[in-house]
Amino acid sequence: MSTEIQIFDNGPIHVKGDFDLKDGQGKSFPKKEEAYLCRCNLSSNKPFCDGQHEGNLSHCARVENA
Ligand code: FES
Repeated sequence: MSTEIQIFDNGPIHVKGDFDLKDGQGKSFPKKEEAYLCRCNLSSNKPFCDGQHEGNLSHCARVENA
């Protein structure tokens, strides 16, 4: 199974597929098929998104064509 990572507009990073999410000490979080990772630093449940980005994050990642 492949892994897909999408940066949501004004929101979290969505990871879906086969992945191993580890903490700063290399310990794995419980295995899931998908995760929403906070990128606004406001979540009370880091590294996961808890919705606090709503109205507090303004960033839309875009692929630039050369
Ligand atoms: S991105 Fe959703 S709480 Fe930070």
